[in-house]
Amino acid sequence: MIHSSQRLLAVIVLGVLAMAGSLSLTADIPESETRSAAGQPDYTPDEKLKFPADYREWVFLTSGLDMSYNTVVMDMGGSTFDNVFVTPEAYAAFKKTGQWPQGTQLVKEARAASQKGSINRHGHFQRGEPVEVEVHVKDARFPGGWAFFIFASHEPATRVPEAAACYDCHRRNAAVDTTFVQFYPTLLPVANAFGEARGALDPK
Ligand code: HEC
Repeated sequence: MIHSSQRLLAVIVLGVLAMAGSLSLTADIPESETRSAAGQPDYTPDEKLKFPADYREWVFLTSGLDMSYNTVVMDMGGSTFDNVFVTPEAYAAFKKTGQWPQGTQLVKEARAASQKGSINRHGHFQRGEPVEVEVHVKDARFPGGWAFFIFASHEPATRVPEAAACYDCHRRNAAVDTTFVQFYPTLLPVANAFGEARGALDPK
């Protein structure tokens, strides 16, 4: 029979090993990328945002297939999924308050939608690496308190300029604080409960 103090020791040893493991993982990430310490955005000295290397481990908010905001539909040469994620810290804060805290980061990645593969006969699945990663950051250092960044690679990205259509559409049409919570099914009820959702789908 294992004595309880031996069991405690085993737990401690495993914990230390797990910590060492995660430290060595961090060390593997190039300096230009980041694991977003406590979910906070990480910038280079010239205010470029470092690529949030671990965003696929954040909280999943939604997938959209071929969503388009233009009345004229452009043929982009194939279907595209987008997937939206938010840092676990910001998600937890939103659930408590219905508001995004400073340092919130949301990612929207685009991936090709494929029909042909393996046993699939109908419908679409996501295939391959993301074709684009866009980040929306809440940070008081920027005019309007939010900034967009577009990553075509893992190199740090410059802020999308204020005049870009991104800011205008998000400001005008997004349900909560320039974010499209009306399309995030686990967060819309939260926003509604706090009375924070504006122009949302299914208003309660
Ligand atoms: C005409 C409206 C419109 C424009 C212009 C627009 N977006 Fe969005 N954006 C949306 C909608 C709608 C969603 C919700 C997407 C979903 O549900 O998949 C969204 C979601 C996002 C998200 C996820 C986080 C959030 O804020 O909800 C990011 C990041 C994002 N857009 C980046 C951009 C960037 C970068 C640009 C400019 C290059 C841009 N958007 C331009 C409508 C727009």
